[in-house]
Amino acid sequence: MDVHEKRIALVDDYLDRAYLVDEVADYYSGRTVLVTGGAGAIGSNLVIALSGLVGDNGKVLVLDNLSAIKTRDPWNITPLPNVMFVLGDVRSDVDLKRVFKEEPSIVFHLAAFFANQNSIDYSETSAEVDVIGQIKLLEYSKISGLEKFIYASSGCAIYGAYPELPIKEEFISMHLTTPYQINKMTGEMYCNFYNHHYGLPTVNCRFFNSYGPGEVPGQYRNVIPNFIYWAMKGYSLPVTGTGEETRDFTYVLDLVQGLIKAAFYSTAVGENFNLASGKELKIRDLITKVNEATDNKADVVFKERRKWDTKPRLLASIDKARQLIGYEPVVDFEEGFQRNIEWFRDNWEKIEAVADFPPGMSSAVRGVKGICSAGARS
Ligand SMILES: NC(=O)c1ccc[n+]([C@@H]2O[C@H](COP(=O)([O-])OP(=O)(O)OC[C@H]3O[C@@H](n4cnc5c(N)ncnc54)[C@H](O)[C@@H]3O)[C@@H](O)[C@H]2O)c1
Repeated sequence: MDVHEKRIALVDDYLDRAYLVDEVADYYSGRTVLVTGGAGAIGSNLVIALSGLVGDNGKVLVLDNLSAIKTRDPWNITPLPNVMFVLGDVRSDVDLKRVFKEEPSIVFHLAAFFANQNSIDYSETSAEVDVIGQIKLLEYSKISGLEKFIYASSGCAIYGAYPELPIKEEFISMHLTTPYQINKMTGEMYCNFYNHHYGLPTVNCRFFNSYGPGEVPGQYRNVIPNFIYWAMKGYSLPVTGTGEETRDFTYVLDLVQGLIKAAFYSTAVGENFNLASGKELKIRDLITKVNEATDNKADVVFKERRKWDTKPRLLASIDKARQLIGYEPVVDFEEGFQRNIEWFRDNWEKIEAVADFPPGMSSAVRGVKGICSAGARS
């Protein structure tokens, strides 16, 4: 099996285990759906799943400007006959007209200027993409009479600095610490506005700490791909804090399950809910797993906590998603992590070519010696 066939098999196997009722296949069959950000970490998995669900008579449109993988080669998109890739920008009327001409009935809006540190370094672009781009998309969705608008919100972002655990949806915080967090929250509020004012059927899905096949490492990316990447190169893993911090790491295909169900169940319209694993993992335990899996012997490096990174623990309640859409995570961390490592090994050359760590630069490790410099294997 080549790398693309492997990813398709992984998604097919997952969907067999995802508690999808038979009506889900009927609902999607023959549809045209649009995935913004479909070349990204989560979108590239969603596109494979939707391609199977819409079938030969349907179409999956992908609108992505490829800014996340920093290449014109969309290698992260699995070539499939019913997937149409449009290289374009959610801020561009020309590009939006191009995709809405295909008359999608569902939009999964995943494109975003990812993530916290990136939004601090480029706060205007963050707002342009995540706020203005989203308003434009909502406008086109409204005009076209769209059936469902599914928004990839962020539970890690919008609950602010000190939420009570496990985090429930009614918790609201004004203590947001980065432009990304503010913009993701604003995105939810615009969905609510379009739902309330125009009757556009919107759904806010609040993801927590995605990991799995499809996410390339980089200075602005998540901890798991970066740890795997550095460990595979034999580098020290940097901890920005004590290592006792926890995160609710969620396997990417569990998020895909949540998105598929969010569009299908009418109970989800006008709602917001967490999509997470509902389990905590300590960063120091994550490090042990990464170093063991990659046979990395380098020591851990402790760094100061980043100013915006205020959450010592993250754990989501997934009761509301269970109740509203029958969401149920099916892949535990051991299995998901194994799939992630395999994907890195299978795609190592491509990943190494696009891993984006300018010399001395990483949002997690600015100034740590041994990271981002060649020959630091210890
Ligand atoms: N990864 C996580 O842990 C996580 C957690 C919570 C929420 N989310 C949200 O889920 C969504 C997907 O996240 P991801 O991890 O797949 O991110 P990602 O960066 O891998 O994917 C986003 C995609 O959007 C594209 N994009 C960026 N700006 C664009 C623009 N102006 N026009 C068109 N395309 C553009 C990028 O090229 C990329 O392919 C995002 O909205 C993110 O905020 C992610």
